[in-house]
Amino acid sequence: MNVDRAHFEAELDQRKHFIEAHLQRYLGGETPRPGLIHEAMHYAVMNGGKRLRPILVMEAARIAGEEPDKVTPTACALEYIHCYSLVHDDLPAMDDDDFRRGKPTCHKVYGEANAILTGDALLTGAFGLLAANSELEGIDIKDVLQVIQEVAQAAGSRGMIGGQVIDLAGDACFSPAALSELHRLKTGELFKAALRAGAILGKMKNQDLEALTRYAYSFGLAFQITDDILDVSGDQTLLGKPVGSDDKNARITYISLYGLPGSIEKARQSVQECLVHLSCFGPEAEFLRNLARYTLIRTF
Ligand code: IPE
Ligand code: IPE
Ligand code: MG
Ligand code: MG
Ligand code: MG
Repeated sequence: MNVDRAHFEAELDQRKHFIEAHLQRYLGGETPRPGLIHEAMHYAVMNGGKRLRPILVMEAARIAGEEPDKVTPTACALEYIHCYSLVHDDLPAMDDDDFRRGKPTCHKVYGEANAILTGDALLTGAFGLLAANSELEGIDIKDVLQVIQEVAQAAGSRGMIGGQVIDLAGDACFSPAALSELHRLKTGELFKAALRAGAILGKMKNQDLEALTRYAYSFGLAFQITDDILDVSGDQTLLGKPVGSDDKNARITYISLYGLPGSIEKARQSVQECLVHLSCFGPEAEFLRNLARYTLIRTF
């Protein structure tokens, strides 16, 4: 179940640079008036994230046979939404964290009100980018509309926001089923939307789209379990965000329910499920298989 860390990280890095060139382009300069909000948006986006969600949009499109650069606006839209969620997640009213991606959080630099507005602007901008994908040659506008609907659902009150609300409520009587539902909502939904967006724009056949959807949920679960694990056992310098945030906020996590060894085992099981869901694909899904395997050894 191993993946060559150095080799895979080099591959991730290459894809990340491709995405970042496009993010830069869509964000434009830092100068449009009012300058402050555009500067803060740059700060919140161009700050060294892994760019996994846009990478997944492009990978699903590639597997479907579409040219990856036909989906870059959608890929960047998913990263805008993710970055907005992080800016808001770090606010004093939520996780109250001071570092993100190795730098002071958006509200530490620009103040709380501007950080809220930065998140709002990124979320709004994301839907502009999703719509703009329809201008690219060969893209079917009906598919764009379906993607917009699915992304709205995944990011909204029945998806990521719903998950964040359950997370904040911190109900101490969490059952295992409620915890996996929380992780599905707050993390899995956006990964699902990313993979499905690329696949839909690439006109992937239904059976494969369903398989990718199942992979996305298992991947999201593995990813959030390892996020919980890194919150207790990670290296803050590598992570770029504080360790111990969940404990400080008394969050219910895989660690609080299963302990560290139990959480590692749960993450392994989810990765195993990822591989099973991809069994209908051949070598074309090897990047997704390796990404799932890599989740177990990631340090950031
Ligand atoms: C962090 O996501 C928040 C979660 C949903 C676990 P990432 O670990 O993908 O954060 P970046 O984008 O690389 O900073
Ligand atoms: C946040 O989960 C998931 C989001 C929807 C932003 P966490 O609160 O665990 O994310 P980190 O650990 O701060 O990145
Ligand atoms: Mg949180
Ligand atoms: Mg947090
Ligand atoms: Mg976390």
